[in-house]
Amino acid sequence: MNSLEHIAIIMDGNGRWAKEKGLPRTAGHKKGVEKVREIAIYANKLGIKCLTLYAFSTENWKRPEKEVNYLMSLPKVFFKAYLKELMENNIKVEMIGEWSRIPDEAKSIFKAAIKETSKNTGMILNFAMNYGGRDEIVSACKKYAKDYKAGKAKSLNEETFKNYLMTAKLPDVDLLIRTSNEIRLSNFLLYEVAYSEFIFIDRYWPDFSCQDLDDCIDQYNKRGRRFGDVTNK
Ligand code: FPP
Repeated sequence: MNSLEHIAIIMDGNGRWAKEKGLPRTAGHKKGVEKVREIAIYANKLGIKCLTLYAFSTENWKRPEKEVNYLMSLPKVFFKAYLKELMENNIKVEMIGEWSRIPDEAKSIFKAAIKETSKNTGMILNFAMNYGGRDEIVSACKKYAKDYKAGKAKSLNEETFKNYLMTAKLPDVDLLIRTSNEIRLSNFLLYEVAYSEFIFIDRYWPDFSCQDLDDCIDQYNKRGRRFGDVTNK
């Protein structure tokens, strides 16, 4: 069995799920929020250390204003409904992404959830919000350059560079899952998935189930992770 600490999910297909049912796209996102709760509670029970969910990308601002506003209202919907349950399950909320452009209300709701759950010792439920992998790498370079200029930087290598990433405190991503059968990364965790196993599943996010997560983990466990070595074939 492979060790499995960090699962990252690209929750794709909310819009298509809704369209196929003759519903507005927002209905798919609403269902997607309920799914976040279900999968997070289950992953925590399985003993996963960290679950990173791609909730809003730096590219998602291109969507119609109405949809962007709806997506930005989801933190409120989610934490209002489920923060109590996250606390009961000892889940710790975190967020990666560029805070500055996130509307004040969503920002303060996230901050409050992060604060309230900060002492929890169970799974880290990490939301990627206004997140872009390229943006993260560029920001890390800028922070390093600033430290270097101030004479505070250690010599640069993969280890020291990781400390400048938004995921600095998180374990490496072991397993990346993307729903809805799209086979691409869409600017998600570009640096962190260097040695991750990828699973692309033909299921829209609102239909993704705990059983699907079990199946993904089974598949992951059957893979021979070698990290460039020749052992474990
Ligand atoms: C992609 O589906 C999904 C998103 C851009 C949003 C995902 C967000 C959630 C599921 C909820 C996040 C929860 C919190 C608490 C912030 P899509 O709209 O691109 O689907 P499509 O490709 O079928 O159009």
